[in-house]
Amino acid sequence: MSTSLSAVRVTDDVYWVGAIDRDLRDFHGYETEHGTTYNAYLILADKVTLIDTVREPFFEEMLARIASVIDPARIDYIVSNHSELDHTGCLPQTIERVRPDKVFASSNGVKTLDAHFHRDLGVTAVAEGESVSLGNRTLTFIETRMLHWPDSMFCYMPEEELLFSQDGFGMHLASDERFADTIEPSLLRSQAAKYYANILLPFSPMVKIAIEKVRGLRIATILPDHGPLWRNDVSRVVEWYELWAAQKPVPKALVVYDTMWRSTDAMADAVAEGVRAESVEVQALRARNHHRSRIAAEYLESGALIVGTPTLNGCMFPTLADVLSYLKGLKRKNLIGAVFGSYGWNGEGIVQVKDALAAMKIPLAAEPVTVQYVPDEAALDRCRTLGREVALKLKGIC
Ligand code: FEO
Repeated sequence: MSTSLSAVRVTDDVYWVGAIDRDLRDFHGYETEHGTTYNAYLILADKVTLIDTVREPFFEEMLARIASVIDPARIDYIVSNHSELDHTGCLPQTIERVRPDKVFASSNGVKTLDAHFHRDLGVTAVAEGESVSLGNRTLTFIETRMLHWPDSMFCYMPEEELLFSQDGFGMHLASDERFADTIEPSLLRSQAAKYYANILLPFSPMVKIAIEKVRGLRIATILPDHGPLWRNDVSRVVEWYELWAAQKPVPKALVVYDTMWRSTDAMADAVAEGVRAESVEVQALRARNHHRSRIAAEYLESGALIVGTPTLNGCMFPTLADVLSYLKGLKRKNLIGAVFGSYGWNGEGIVQVKDALAAMKIPLAAEPVTVQYVPDEAALDRCRTLGREVALKLKGIC
């Protein structure tokens, strides 16, 4: 394990010079239990080029890594593939320190950087398909608008078959390992899926477009702006992205619920039992115990969303309002749904969840099951039937 601030060699001429943020636990509302990295890349071409920068507090760390291979003042060009502040927070300081000849961004990137920093950074706009010569190397720019911001772009270096993919193919995972093939595969997949679900899922049509754009390129290495770098096995992450972007029905049910006096909790257990009785995988998560970004990761790879709520003060339980509001924004397609819950005197919460699923364009696969106060064995049987009905419908469409 190395803790020194050194650059990491990717190829003879390309180095990782980013920063490791092990302490990060919240990335604009996304629970980052493994921290993250902000990746930046130094190309030692005739024109020395820096691809992206890092979050502002990590400026000196990035600079130290650059200085481990070259005097930062020798940087000629900077490319900003994505304007979000985790990659541009220290761009103004970097420009001031390095004084590059040119800074490149997409045309939307130029506008976004202006709107962030309100000063002339001297950024030159590059267009889709445009190439910039670095002397003995070339960078070709590939617009990836709304993947996941309007400014987003990839760039490709044909001489070494490198794709610099900003947030695409990234994940929030701080590790002392820089390359994906040295990280435990199940951790890699779960964190890539969580990242996709929380950052890219709403933009799945753009993911498909981006994959089509790069499909004809020879790509040996994918260099994202977060998490490990993909060498040797780039097809692995591309295949995951194709799978997730397709949003096909998945034979797995996600039960999200909360409970006040264990009634809706007992109903959730019975619903899950019914799903399992039809040999369909099920995951039950109590909303109060799981961050919305963790629930989103399960949501990505489920074919049914079954929601259980008590009614509190005439409303669905607040944790479920939070989760459903968040999941709605992710625009997951091709799901079926169901609703259940216990109530005291009026069951408005259950009606509100039903309306929320309708607004998310998730059709109900079974009639809602509602119970006043505490479910008896007959009510739990109705919950088991709900679970079985959802499972049978899922099997029919998967
Ligand atoms: Fe990693 Fe969209 O910023």
